[in-house]
Amino acid sequence: MQAKEIREVSCVGAGVIGYSWALYFAMKDLSVTVYDINEESLQLAKKRIHESLETLIKNNVLTKEKSEELEKSIIYTLSMEEAVRNAQLIVESGPENYDIKRQMVEEMEKYTSIETIIVSSTSGLLITEICKNAKHPERFIGAHPYNPPHLIPLVEITKGDKTSEVVVEVAKEFYTLIGKEPIVLKKEALGFICNRIQMALYREVCDLVTRGVCTIEDADKAVTYGPGLRWGIMGPSLVFQLGGGQYGIAGALKHMGPSANMWLADMADFKKIPDEFAMIAQEGVNEELKNRSAEIGNDNASLAEYRDKMLIELLKLHHKL
Ligand SMILES: NC(=O)c1ccc[n+]([C@@H]2O[C@H](COP(=O)([O-])OP(=O)(O)OC[C@H]3O[C@@H](n4cnc5c(N)ncnc54)[C@H](O)[C@@H]3O)[C@@H](O)[C@H]2O)c1
Repeated sequence: MQAKEIREVSCVGAGVIGYSWALYFAMKDLSVTVYDINEESLQLAKKRIHESLETLIKNNVLTKEKSEELEKSIIYTLSMEEAVRNAQLIVESGPENYDIKRQMVEEMEKYTSIETIIVSSTSGLLITEICKNAKHPERFIGAHPYNPPHLIPLVEITKGDKTSEVVVEVAKEFYTLIGKEPIVLKKEALGFICNRIQMALYREVCDLVTRGVCTIEDADKAVTYGPGLRWGIMGPSLVFQLGGGQYGIAGALKHMGPSANMWLADMADFKKIPDEFAMIAQEGVNEELKNRSAEIGNDNASLAEYRDKMLIELLKLHHKL
């Protein structure tokens, strides 16, 4: 099967991630069927799709007419057979648990053609393990999205030890065709690429705050109004490329080397976030929120609204919306 032949997509598991994938696929004019195990979950997915569409309308991404058309086009079902029988691609977004995912694999395989590609949204489980009892493990891959997948372009593609390279290529092309930015992991790595990078940064936030160098608020400001602005445009290596002037990143690293090696020697290298840091971080965030206006978010709801509004503007600049 070729990537452009993927026209019907089934979203199996319609929670936080599943609903958002369903919405994105519908926005890309694919036929979408949403499956979950009970009516409440399907109703919640419908409500979340509606609310996300309202945000997209408010930010001039979609017209009201287009949004109504999309909403009507999505099919919801409690029947796995109906959900997957005609799909060329199935996106599994069930709970992050091997037993449940394996049970889902068994169910999905019962009703689907062997041509169908089955993708897991898993944040860190191994594809090899998820499909260890599968009849056709070669058509299973991981496609890890970032929340919310209907906005964030990154998809980390992971393989199991029996995944076919053809399936990886077709999936990569499919995500590219629908406007995503897929990257394929060359080998399995816990936490994939992006969560590891995020956690390396957060370990340092944790250490700086615990040592009393800065507050949570100042660490947030440092990232938001400093390197975060550049990272929203290009990756850290390209930033260093410019930092090195005519000598590029090689020159920048050479130049920073002696100092950077001293910082590195002094930086956190712990292997576990200290348990007590959860409360320290929460108290720091509570203080930070008191110093913000509602316009830029000072509680969870206004913060999420501000994040989505700014994200949409940034995505427009990247020609991703
Ligand atoms: N939440 C995130 O930020 C995030 C980001 C990237 C990837 N993920 C991954 O996406 C997957 C889903 O996470 P989520 O946050 O959407 O979880 P969630 O709890 O919001 O949703 C899971 C959904 O699966 C349904 N479900 C349970 N058993 C099922 C079954 N047997 N068949 C079909 N559906 C079933 C539940 O009813 C629920 O609607 C997980 O693997 C998670 O690791 C989550």
